[in-house]
Amino acid sequence: MEKNMDKKIQASVPAKVILFGEHFVVYGKRALAAAINRRLVVEVSSRERSGYHVKIANIPTFGLEMDLELGQEEGKGKALLYKDYGAATKAIAYVKESIRYLEERYGIGRGGEGVEIEIKSEIPLSAGLGSSAATCVATIAALKEFFGVGGDLEGIRNDAHNIEKAVQGAASPVDTAISTYGGYVLVEKGEVKRLRLAELNLVVGCVGSIPLSIGMDTKKASEMGLKTKKIVEGVKTRKEIFTSIFDSIFAASDEITAQAIRAIEHRDFVKLGALMNINHGLLDAIGVVPRRLSELVKMSQESGALGAKVTGAGGLDEMGGVGSVLVLSGESVDRIKAVMEIAGALVMEVKTGGEGLKTITF
Ligand code: MEV
Repeated sequence: MEKNMDKKIQASVPAKVILFGEHFVVYGKRALAAAINRRLVVEVSSRERSGYHVKIANIPTFGLEMDLELGQEEGKGKALLYKDYGAATKAIAYVKESIRYLEERYGIGRGGEGVEIEIKSEIPLSAGLGSSAATCVATIAALKEFFGVGGDLEGIRNDAHNIEKAVQGAASPVDTAISTYGGYVLVEKGEVKRLRLAELNLVVGCVGSIPLSIGMDTKKASEMGLKTKKIVEGVKTRKEIFTSIFDSIFAASDEITAQAIRAIEHRDFVKLGALMNINHGLLDAIGVVPRRLSELVKMSQESGALGAKVTGAGGLDEMGGVGSVLVLSGESVDRIKAVMEIAGALVMEVKTGGEGLKTITF
């Protein structure tokens, strides 16, 4: 193993949007996801004091900067023992698990080296835009490079997926695949396939009032980190009660994803938009659309969007409806952006299909 601790590594990864099939993908149905031109960067460098030092800066909608120490207990052998930051942010949970995983899987980081990890992100948290997966992929890639165990993209994707599962309990490979490879990814029966499709211009509207609405309530803050887990569990419960009805809804979603890929290939945006609207209806039917996201979708549709839908895990009313919607705006982009902004959303124009993981060594 290489031991050049003076180097600095930067790993940059894209955010993602799920265009079609979120939730249904957890049960093996097809989902289509794309990278978007919003990125998260993890920088790893050496520092004089031993142990890991983590800094998270400028995450949109989170409005918080914090320094956390993952301490090393004196006199307890070589294993690192982490202080319990039960109430720490979601991002920190993924970084902690990444460090633990690398230590266990590759035996790296046990020498008590001083490691500085800094995360800079343009991806809003808990918005369904893949901030968790982006954190895992970039952290793993940067740390592996730093400790000289490098690794191919597939290995990094696999590590990051394991970490996401360990923190969340369950996760499909969609998000980590997009953060690693960029472009477009079709996931079917748990298999990841990379697709070559043309770029799309979309508008994303995020309801992201986490810190404002919960203030200093750190218990709620850590629950928010597990929002996806809670929503996925809710779908499972309802699926168990309404099995045959849900089976039909799931089959419909699978077909929507297949048709959507053809619509993108044929540049048939009217059809693509209509499929987004139907997909949104199915997500509402399985109970993952909170009022605030529902309103953003309706307002976009009324304002001339070709299609609009919730993207990612969706949201829960009792968690402030935090989450995102995806809009194929067509000609009405300015009007839709204005309407969503007036409704209090963070609005971003994005392009799909960007570059995946990029690692630079300084
Ligand atoms: C979360 O971005 C998407 C879900 O389908 C969960 C998953 O795929 O792991 C809700």
